[in-house]
Parts: sequence; C-alpha cells; structure tokens
Amino acid sequence: MATSTSEAVAVEGREPWDVERIREDFPVLRQTVHGKPLVYLDNAATAQKPLAVIDAERNFYLRDNANVHRGVHALSERATRAYEEVRTKVQRLLNAREAREIVFVRGTTEAINLVAATYGRKNVQAGDEILISAMEHHSNIVPWQMLCEEKGARLRVAPINDRGELMLDEYEKLLGSRVKLVAVTHVSNVLGTINPLPEIVALAHQRGIPVLVDGAQAAPHLKVDVQQIDCDFYAFSSHKVFGPTGIGALYGKARLLEAMPPYQGGGDMISSVTFEKTLYNVIPYKFEAGTPNIAATIGLGAAIDYLERIGLERIARQERELLVYATESLSRIPGLRIIGTAREKAAVISFVMDGIHPHDIGTVLDQEGVAIRTGHHCAQPLMEWFGIPATARASFAFYNTQEEVETLVRSIEKVKEIFQ
Ligand code: ALA
Repeated sequence: MATSTSEAVAVEGREPWDVERIREDFPVLRQTVHGKPLVYLDNAATAQKPLAVIDAERNFYLRDNANVHRGVHALSERATRAYEEVRTKVQRLLNAREAREIVFVRGTTEAINLVAATYGRKNVQAGDEILISAMEHHSNIVPWQMLCEEKGARLRVAPINDRGELMLDEYEKLLGSRVKLVAVTHVSNVLGTINPLPEIVALAHQRGIPVLVDGAQAAPHLKVDVQQIDCDFYAFSSHKVFGPTGIGALYGKARLLEAMPPYQGGGDMISSVTFEKTLYNVIPYKFEAGTPNIAATIGLGAAIDYLERIGLERIARQERELLVYATESLSRIPGLRIIGTAREKAAVISFVMDGIHPHDIGTVLDQEGVAIRTGHHCAQPLMEWFGIPATARASFAFYNTQEEVETLVRSIEKVKEIFQ
C-alpha cells in the first residue's frame, strides 16, 4: 500500500520556519467562510488535522482494520502492533518512564473521571479534601465535586491573582493534612496561564499529596516531561494535539495505577473470569475495558509523529511570537481588555470589550471569516472570579500567521464600528 502523499510535506525541525508550507498540510484551512478566507483561531476548542493524520486513519481502515489484543490472524496482529506502537509514542511525547504508564481513554475528561472513580473512591473519605485551582475547566471541577458529594469530602480552591496566576503562597496554606489530592491545570484554557508545575508538585509532595495535571491545553503547545514535573497523573486529548477526536491518554505512575481498582468492567481488562470471581489484567489494560477507538489511536500516533517532525520547542517559539504580536496589537484597541495577563502564557487571548457582548463580537468576526470562541469556555467559576459573564477568546496554533492576527484586529475594529 502506498504511503500517504502528505508525509513529506511537514517542515522538518532543522529547516527554516515556513508557515505557508505547513499550512499546505491542513486542507481545511484552505477555504472561504462567508466569502472571506478562513482565519481559524479556535484551536483551544479543537485543533485542525494534518493530512498525515487523516491518511493514517483512512489507511488503517483500508488495509489493517481488525480488533486489538484478540486475534491470532495477520490483520489483528498488525492492528495490535500499530495500536501498541502509539502507546510508546505517547510515552515518548510525555517522557514517561514506561509504556504501561499510559492508559488510552476518550480524552482528558474521561482521564480525570477515571482517576476520580478509582484512585479517588479508594483513597478519599469523609472529611478529606481535594484541592484544585480557581482557573480549572469544568472537567477538572465536576468529577471532584461528584466524588466529594459521594464521600462527604470537601473541594478546596486555591486562588489566583488579577493577572490570572496561581497564588503559590495561598496554595501552600491550603495544603493541609486532610488534602488527599491536588488537581490542577497545566495551561488555563481561558487565560492561557502556564502554571509552575514543578513548584506546585514539590509543595504537594513534601506533604505526601499526589498531583493530577490537566494537560489538555499544554500538550499542543509545550514540550511536556512528566518525569521532570514529577506529577502523579497527567491527562491530555488527541483532538487538541492535531489528532482525531474520541481518544486521549492518561499517564499515571505505575505504582499508583497498580494499586488502583479498575474503572469499567468488560473485555480486555481481565486476566480470567468465572461467575465467582474475576482476576484483573495488568496495567494499563486493567483500565481499558471494551474495544477501544483503534483508528483514532492510530491517528493520534500520526499526529505525534507530525509534531515531533516539526519539534515542540520550535512550535512553542513560533506561538510565543504570535502571542506577543497579537497581545500588542489587541492592547492598542481602545475599550478592549485582555483577561489573563500571566507572565508565563500560552497562545490564548481572552478579551472583553466595553458595552459589547462577546457573542456579538463572535458573530461579527464569523462574518469576516474569523473563527473564535465566545462564552464561559466551560469555566463558569473563573468567569465569576473575574466578575464577567463571558469572554471572546482567540487561541492560536503553529499554523496561524501574523496576517491572520491583522485580520483579527481589523475585524474587531468592524465590531466597534457596528456596536459603538
Ligand atoms: N475545553 C475546550 C475549550 O476551551 C473545549 O474550548
């Protein structure tokens, strides 16, 4: 079977940065919306997929489709090998010690729910506390609330300052003897804040408290190293790292995963079953009941290959330039206020405009071909913290350009002409 025609297109780490060449890998970007060239600035919601990912999924169905871990026939062996290779790619992406520390899940949300339902149910009792931060996404709030409700435990919230940075001294004060787990985001989906994870983790570990990191918004932008961070759990979603939807990964330290009860019961998570008793499989399979999303996993593998060909350090550098340019350009617009001005930020800019509802901003921008997200961004408590109902949010990826930032600025000027 011929390999994908797209595979040679991505800019290799050593070549000069050529954004136009990179954009050739993303056919979806080559379109007009309402008669205007698409400017896709909603990457924090979901990122676009390179041809290499689309082709990998298609090729899997064209030549390898079979179930994994179940057959002795050639197709099943091929599918199993390809599926397990992706586990090794995720291990490399996160710099985990071992491939068995990587559990495939539907995405970040399922990863956090898995830890709450297994580690949490086993280790959290009445009167205990779970500590999160004020900038968490609903997916790193609600599973812990559900667990606290079930167990009679308490959810505590570490505050942030006006820039949208975690207040480390306040966080440390909250690390009392009742805290059984810290759950914190790596990068805020609303503010773009990059949290100082090594410090956050070290302070928790000094007191023997494990730390879960929501890495959904970090994995597409930063080189993640779970050994250097020393977190106990790390979750991310494929669709935000330019892979398919419906797949993601949970990293967990092997000794913690081994001690955790299973998540769901079913096929593949067992080593033997009788009507009297079931013995569970080893990690990570203990947590992977049922047929997984095999094709999407293969797609995720292609996305990781693609990112590694370009280089995550390089991606971070390019996005940093875009962030600086966009921040300076937007800051010059009278009546526009940026929400989230942390000193360490990823390429996400939330903003509000005097007297104009964010939904109106989003609607006018859409007419200009500019896709942004407006609303509470699944972070209603954070909106309350800033005393606003919603923001408009432009979120960038490495395929975005300075010209697109300029189009965003011109479109915002149009919003002002219409509404002010
Ligand atoms: N969590 C995603 C966002 O921030 C959906 O848009």
